[in-house]
Amino acid sequence: MSSQHEVPSYLTPSDIGPWGVYLEQIDRVTPYLGTLARWVETLKRPKRILIVDVPIERDDGSIAHFEGYRVQHNTSRGPGKGGVRFHQDVTLSEVMALSAWMTIKNAAVNVPYGGAKGGIRVNPKTLSTAELQRITRRYTSEINIIIGPNKDIPAPDVNTNEKVMAWMMDTFSMNQGSTATGVVTGKPISLGGSLGRREATGRGVYVVGCEAASRRGIDIRGARISVQGFGNVGGIAARLFAEAGAKVVAVQDHMATVVSDSGLDIPALEQHVAAHGSVAGFAGADQVEDRARFWETDCDILIPAALEQQITEANASRIRAKIILEGANGPTTPLADDILHDKGVLVVPDVIANAGGVTVSYFEWVQDFSSFFWTEDEINQRLTRIMREAFTAVWQLSEEKKVSLRTAAFIVGCTRVLQAREMRGLYP
Ligand SMILES: NC(=O)c1ccc[n+]([C@@H]2O[C@H](COP(=O)([O-])OP(=O)(O)OC[C@H]3O[C@@H](n4cnc5c(N)ncnc54)[C@H](O)[C@@H]3O)[C@@H](O)[C@H]2O)c1
Repeated sequence: MSSQHEVPSYLTPSDIGPWGVYLEQIDRVTPYLGTLARWVETLKRPKRILIVDVPIERDDGSIAHFEGYRVQHNTSRGPGKGGVRFHQDVTLSEVMALSAWMTIKNAAVNVPYGGAKGGIRVNPKTLSTAELQRITRRYTSEINIIIGPNKDIPAPDVNTNEKVMAWMMDTFSMNQGSTATGVVTGKPISLGGSLGRREATGRGVYVVGCEAASRRGIDIRGARISVQGFGNVGGIAARLFAEAGAKVVAVQDHMATVVSDSGLDIPALEQHVAAHGSVAGFAGADQVEDRARFWETDCDILIPAALEQQITEANASRIRAKIILEGANGPTTPLADDILHDKGVLVVPDVIANAGGVTVSYFEWVQDFSSFFWTEDEINQRLTRIMREAFTAVWQLSEEKKVSLRTAAFIVGCTRVLQAREMRGLYP
């Protein structure tokens, strides 16, 4: 994607990537920001970018170097917060966009954080467990100077998990000489993690999905669901919809697309993925060779829960779903948004739909500070309440202003961030 925007010298204007999508979204919300629009440039520039070299010794004795990033987009409302992604295609543009979406998301659901994100350009599936530990620890040491429980709190994202968070927490703690559980969230329960965190993003997707479906007159019992990405977010969302009586008719991951008109057996599919690393070869379904056909699945709700820029002008017109629930960050481009809007497809944007993860991360951080831990019921109830309230506020604003749910969510989020900026004033 190329850009009409002022692009920083460290990005390529002709290939601006996900950051360009984010800038376009900010342009679309700016007319609704009133006098706060005077501050909007602050949202178009990340506050701080750290690029680090991550060298490790491989198991065979060779030395390998990887590129790592941590971007703090905005800290007007509180410390930076956002995941760490290990993926061979991670770029600076992508991490910038993901950090900015965290700023908007945290403000839209009103948790007291700014936005941040990190990543390493590596395919972790090519590393042994020992190498994965070394790369995680070296990366954590390199970004150690800008993270901390009151500065910036990483969490899991694509290809990172509880184990990676435990190593990050340990490395930070070793460097500072005392245990700091609050430096990352998404930790194992035994190390200050929170009950319900692993399922939180998928649960949030499910909760807002039910809200959106009821407003569109769709009964979840018997509703047809298709899911792209069967990891932490897509897998849990699929399970919760199936438990509520929906039929998950198609699942696509990085290897394969599996379909079943009568509904996939989700617990069996989860077991298959745990054993084989992919949905490929799952016996209880048909496999579709042409990956692009996934987007044409006859369904009520489509959940993109893999990577960004999946729904584009190339496939949006073929989508048959009535609702798109964005489990992934940035899965839909602005041009695709326009096509879906014209077709009457309701898009529930990432900054609301997948905010359940950061909401329970916030609970985890609060529990770590007070060293007092809540029950899973308390966590799920509070999560459900926050998600419903955030969705309802955004829904009402979208009706009132006659704008998409994305623009409404951005109005709520940007307004909170820029109000904080205005109240704090510009330093010095
Ligand atoms: N983990 C969280 O708490 C969280 C919170 C908010 C948003 N998200 C977003 O949700 C998305 C998924 O994150 P996750 O934590 O579930 O990651 P994950 O690593 O657990 O799972 C990713 C899934 O996507 C699939 N995938 C990867 N590339 C694909 C491709 N090209 N086509 C189809 N499928 C592909 C993988 O096979 C896997 O099933 C990301 O956009 C992430 O930023 C995650």
